[in-house]
Amino acid sequence: MEIRHSHAYQFSGKVTPSVLRGVMLYVNFPTLKCGRIGLNPLRGMLRNNRVKAPDSLKPSGGEEERLLAELDANRLPQHIAVIMDGNGRWAQRRHLPRIAGHRAGVLSARTVIETCARLKIPALTLYAFSMENWRRPKAEIDFLMRLLREYLRKELPVIHRNNIRLLVIGRPDQLPAAVRADVVRAMEQTAENSGMKLAVALNYGGRAELVDAFNRILDRVRNNGLANARVDEETISQYLYTAGLPDPDLLIRTSGEMRVSNFLLWQIAYAEIYVTETLWPDFTRAQLYEALLDFQKRERRYGGLAETRQRVTV
Ligand code: FPP
Repeated sequence: MEIRHSHAYQFSGKVTPSVLRGVMLYVNFPTLKCGRIGLNPLRGMLRNNRVKAPDSLKPSGGEEERLLAELDANRLPQHIAVIMDGNGRWAQRRHLPRIAGHRAGVLSARTVIETCARLKIPALTLYAFSMENWRRPKAEIDFLMRLLREYLRKELPVIHRNNIRLLVIGRPDQLPAAVRADVVRAMEQTAENSGMKLAVALNYGGRAELVDAFNRILDRVRNNGLANARVDEETISQYLYTAGLPDPDLLIRTSGEMRVSNFLLWQIAYAEIYVTETLWPDFTRAQLYEALLDFQKRERRYGGLAETRQRVTV
């Protein structure tokens, strides 16, 4: 089970090159408070003290159990897209370097990925690195790239165990060669998995995706001498990075910002948008259930769907 981090404590620390490389602790813990198990905010983030992936979706507490019991298994979204926002603020509020927020964010991503897979949601897309993110300090970008490689290396067994197929959407050619190689390997290794499709948006921009789609359509027209060719919505969808995935019917954004931030611009045309104030590293399985319940309520209000409900079993 993942361990959530207490909000009640403040920590101090300093960033050094080894901190940025992720090899050294960067926080002085108030010994008394952190002596008790579960209070160390970096527990589970350190190399040799990783949080184990949950073995099942067995609810860990009354709240999760209550929410899960309310969910209608017949009306879960077909594709959930997530803008994972607030890692930096999560860290700043704890007087930690921003990279600590990204490390904590990986744990939330893992929980959401595994939960969606076990709920049999057909597709999940996570916005991991936007084209705009290149404007961040080089040290943070380098850290994010390393974190991604670490994630791919360490989580592949969990991804496999959950029968997940990994896809990457974006412009991979601008990513560092090592990241590209890991991404290609992970995609190849999971290509035969028949369960949830997990699309990780990397060096992704919604407008760039449309530009790329239009250019590929133009290439096809030119190469085939299709002087009278016309495009329709279906054609455009087929040329997007997400070809083959259903359009997201639920877009979740954490940390309260009311923006779509150049994410899946074409695909979210009819998506229900769920914005929570919770910062991404604090986003729990219970909060995912809350988002799903909210989605199901909206569907009931506007969709004219049957009222019968099938309980979710885990
Ligand atoms: C936003 O926080 C998050 C990101 C830039 C993406 C990084 C996401 C992760 C590390 C999660 C892990 C994902 C995978 C697929 C392993 P921010 O830095 O913009 O936060 P702020 O708005 O508070 O500054």
